Amino acid sequence: MARLRVAVLISGRGSNLAALIAACRTPDHPAEIGLVVSNEPAAAGLAHAGRAGIPVRVVPHRDFSDRPAFEAALDAELRAGGAGLVCLAGFMRILTAPFVERWRDRLINIHPSLLPAFRGLDTHARALAAGVRVSGCTVHFVRPETDAGPIICQAAVPVLPDDDAERLAARVLAAEHRIYPLAVRLFAEGRLKVEGERVAIMGASAPESPLFNPLP
Ligand code: GAR
Repeated sequence: MARLRVAVLISGRGSNLAALIAACRTPDHPAEIGLVVSNEPAAAGLAHAGRAGIPVRVVPHRDFSDRPAFEAALDAELRAGGAGLVCLAGFMRILTAPFVERWRDRLINIHPSLLPAFRGLDTHARALAAGVRVSGCTVHFVRPETDAGPIICQAAVPVLPDDDAERLAARVLAAEHRIYPLAVRLFAEGRLKVEGERVAIMGASAPESPLFNPLP
């Protein structure tokens, strides 16, 4: 069977891109990363694509007069690359409703919080300020509202007493590198069904054990 062609959009470091590349390289994986697009010419993550021999396109948003023009160029690259799924992986541009609707249910994002808590930026500092004992990350289908849309996967991690934003971010990032490849695999295997605001997952089991923090 033909593998699903995935395009990954990045703006920076690209550690989630690296995790996706590694996962898709395993034998018989149902997806392949066919294209990496960055809006930042200097994005460090582009090196991961280069090393893996994956075609790279740079679409610098500053070269365009407005968002629709930038998004038209982005859309053209994704279509030319034959993308069946588009993964936002640290892509730090807001996408407008027409673009999001054009890729509806074929466009997913990873966000470093347990959505719907802590949408937007500085998630870890805000989670610490709020005093939550558990944080995590979410992969979701993209909708026009920022950091909203049907949830595919989440992972929870404890917040520890001596955490700062950097330590918490590192713990969450390790979980991101596990759930993003999982979400892509589930999509590629055709096991996700969007039902309104929820995602039904065919043939997946769930853990029954709760995460307690603190322990008594
Ligand atoms: C990740 O933590 C990702 O969840 C976050 O940016 C980081 C990118 O890291 N995304 C957002 O905050 C989007 N709202 P990476 O470039 O190493 O994958």
